Parts: sequence; structure tokens; C-alpha cells
Amino acid sequence: MVKILTDRDVEALVSVDELLSAVSEAFRALSLGEVLMPPRSRIGVSGAGDILLMPCLAPSLKVFSLKIVSVYPGNLEKGLPTTNAVVVAVDPENGIPRLVAEARALTGLRTAAATALSVKHLARSDSKNLGIIGCGYQARWQLLITSQVMRPQRVYAFDMYRDRAEKFAEEMGGRIGGKVELCYTPEELVKSCDIIITATTSKTPVVRKEWVRPGTHISAIGAYTPEMAEIDPSLLASSKVVVDSLAAAKEEAGEIIQAVKAGLMRWEDVYAEIGEIIAGRKPGRLSWEEVTVFKTVGTAAQDAAVASILLSKASDK
Ligand SMILES: NC(=O)c1ccc[n+]([C@@H]2O[C@H](COP(=O)([O-])OP(=O)(O)OC[C@H]3O[C@@H](n4cnc5c(N)ncnc54)[C@H](O)[C@@H]3O)[C@@H](O)[C@H]2O)c1
Repeated sequence: MVKILTDRDVEALVSVDELLSAVSEAFRALSLGEVLMPPRSRIGVSGAGDILLMPCLAPSLKVFSLKIVSVYPGNLEKGLPTTNAVVVAVDPENGIPRLVAEARALTGLRTAAATALSVKHLARSDSKNLGIIGCGYQARWQLLITSQVMRPQRVYAFDMYRDRAEKFAEEMGGRIGGKVELCYTPEELVKSCDIIITATTSKTPVVRKEWVRPGTHISAIGAYTPEMAEIDPSLLASSKVVVDSLAAAKEEAGEIIQAVKAGLMRWEDVYAEIGEIIAGRKPGRLSWEEVTVFKTVGTAAQDAAVASILLSKASDK
């Protein structure tokens, strides 16, 4: 029988250690060509949002998953979540669908795991201050999971809407057992932090090159179309850039696409996929001074990673 899991079930079933290990394996397998992951289809719903279809067969994780995710930026104004999703997990041995899970939490978890893995492999080990720009749904997961990997001394947050940032600080301070300090501008945040996460729906860059200190690590998770950008394209061009999937980045990573179009960098300048670093094919950070940028648009392999954890837990019951 197909199991139905809610977001709450997903949250309760997935531990941080399992999450990081499964997403790490997914990235490794993806970069080594061991997964079957057709490009995601994006269906634009005129004037409303996008619906994305994300399939992946991941043999080493023993799962086929298909996620249907919608991104409706105007939803927040109506009191509805921007991102909504559901995932179907199929046993690849016999093709039998085993579970259907709400996938808002799953998406938050696997996207935060990508940032956390980028921090593990690319950030300076002496990084102390963590900053989050954009205080929405993803930002909450980003902070929860990343703070378990790097144990920040100080956490800073900025959102273009002050009330959202205040709500975030109040809620998340309790959840991470520390204070979340608010910044009045993105510049103030960027200048104060060693690790910066951008989790906005912005179409124009929020992080400028001249604000970024040597040795900073940035994880940019927000932009997912050629028209969107959270990071100044000239910052990309002067940084060590790592992506989740080069094929997906070429279609969707707005800030890299714009930097390439402007002649500031070439696709060959993208240093690596994170899976190549995880697999030991390329080293991560090489010097204290370099600025590293991890650009993730999100891959179905990450969804498959969480689906595999859910499958193993659901069949334990
Ligand atoms: N990379 C991935 O795998 C992945 C996964 C899920 C979602 N996303 C993307 O992440 C983004 C955030 O998703 P969400 O669900 O948290 O959205 P959300 O609407 O809940 O939060 C976005 C926040 O960013 C703020 N914001 C927008 N523009 C800003 C700017 N210029 N400066 C400062 N703050 C700004 C908004 O006020 C809002 O609070 C979306 O674009 C979504 O598509 C990426």
C-alpha cells in the first residue's frame, strides 16, 4: 500500500546525519554519472508562477522519485507559502510506488543540506559569523541545518521586509538556541559575515562584490531562472564557483548565465560540481583568501536522497 506522509512526518523521520550523508551520496553519484536525471520541466502558469517536474533514478540510493513543485512568488501576499511540493517514491526493483509525501519540508531539508555540504567542503574552517539574506521558508531550514555543521558564534539576518526579518529572528533564535541579530542593509550583513546564504526571490543582485571580504563563502540558493540573480555577476567572475549540476546551472543559474552573457566569465571557469569535490576528484577550498560561491538551483537527485531515507523509515514501520 502506498504510504502517505505529511511535512510533519518528513521532519520527524529525517535526522541531520542521515540527511547529509544521503544528499552527499546523491551529489557524488550525480557527478559521476550514476543517476538518471532528465532536465526538469518548467511549466509557466501565466501571471501566477511556475510548476516544475523533477524525476530521478538513483540506483545507489535504491529509489526513483518524482517531485512536483510549484513556485508562486505572489503567494506570500495572500498568506500562502511561495513553494509547495509533493514527491512520489517508487521502488526501482519492481516499479511499485511506495510513498507519496508532502515535499515542502523535504525541499527545505535537501536544499539546506546542499548549503551545509558546501560549507563543509568550501568554507574556511575558522568561519565564525553566519549571515542569511531573505528570511522566508527556505531560510529557516538553511539556518537550522547549516548551524549544526558550523556552530556559528553570531548569526545575522536581513530581509527587504523588516517584519519578516523580525519574525525570523524571534522564531529561529529559539530554535537554534542563540541570538539572530538583524541588519538594516545587505551591505552591513555581508561585511560582518564569513558565510553568507542568499535565500531570496530577488531578480536583481543583493550581494555586491565590493562588500565581500577575502575568504568568504557564499551559498546562493534563490535564483532559478536566467532572469534572476542574487549575486553580482562580477563577484561570480572573480570567485571560485561550484555548482550542484553544471547541466542544470547552464539552464537555470541566473547569476552565472548573466556573468557568461556579459563576457565576465566562461562556463569552463566554473570550478566544479560539488559532487566532484565530495568524490575526491577535485579539492575544495585551496587558500584562506579565496572567495567561494556555491550556486545551487536544486536537483532531483537531492529529492531522491530524502525519498530514500523516507522509504527506508516507512518500510521499518
Ligand atoms: N536552490 C534550491 O534548491 C531551491 C529550493 C527551494 C527554493 N528555492 C528558491 O529559494 C527562494 C526562496 O524560497 P522561499 O520558499 O524561502 O521563499 P519565501 O518567499 O518564503 O522567502 C523569500 C524571502 O526573500 C525576501 N526577499 C526577496 N527579495 C529580497 C531582496 N532583494 N533582499 C532581501 N530579501 C528579499 C522576501 O521578502 C522573503 O521574505 C525562491 O526563489 C525559491 O524558488 C531554491
